[in-house]
Amino acid sequence: MNGNTTKRAYDRIAGLYDVMEYPMEFMFFAKWRKELLTSVSGKVLEVGIGTGKNLRYYPPGIQLMGIDISSRMMRKAQMKAAEIGHSLNLMVMNVEDMSFSDFSFDFVVSTFVFCSVSRPLQGLREIKRVLKSNGYALFLEHVRSEKKFLGRVMDFFNPMVRLLIGPNINRRTVENIEKSGLNIISVHNKGSELVKHVIARP
Ligand SMILES: C[S@@+](CC[C@H](N)C(=O)[O-])C[C@H]1O[C@@H](n2cnc3c(N)ncnc32)[C@H](O)[C@@H]1O
Repeated sequence: MNGNTTKRAYDRIAGLYDVMEYPMEFMFFAKWRKELLTSVSGKVLEVGIGTGKNLRYYPPGIQLMGIDISSRMMRKAQMKAAEIGHSLNLMVMNVEDMSFSDFSFDFVVSTFVFCSVSRPLQGLREIKRVLKSNGYALFLEHVRSEKKFLGRVMDFFNPMVRLLIGPNINRRTVENIEKSGLNIISVHNKGSELVKHVIARP
């Protein structure tokens, strides 16, 4: 999928996204988001902010900027921010080509985004560029299995999943983070080896 196709796909499902995700959110994601975000501070950029599911887990006092290629997903994020009284700046922007200056942010956050970014390495390099040299990139991402058989099964079904629901299920996001030049500080499995909590620095 290229950026335009991804944008159209998320624009289309924006109204239903939170409902579709509710079971996973309730059982797992909410807890993982909270753990990911407890320590953020200062100037924070969330890429692929979507409907703003992370908003309620940010600590108070941060300066938050959110970007996404889907304006309809972000409209939901704007409504959530208003509901919970969170101040938030939003811009329609592709993570692969951000208009922010180098060294702009203390933290960059990405949750369940790099399964659908068309050029993931380019997006990760952009994250590295806009982070301050003492900043942190925080990721919660689902990835291709490290197990030989399951990894191959995921490769096999990926084209079908992409066609039917959009995202890739076989992204090697941890490896891509390394390739982008970010230094990985820690990687933890969440629930299973298929979801990773990664902390990296420029
Ligand atoms: C699966 S949703 C996750 C949304 C949110 N981060 C969350 O945790 O619920 C992926 C989001 O990434 C956005 N996205 C995909 N490719 C993008 C890109 N190249 N640049 C910016 N946002 C992108 C989509 O529009 C969508 O809102």
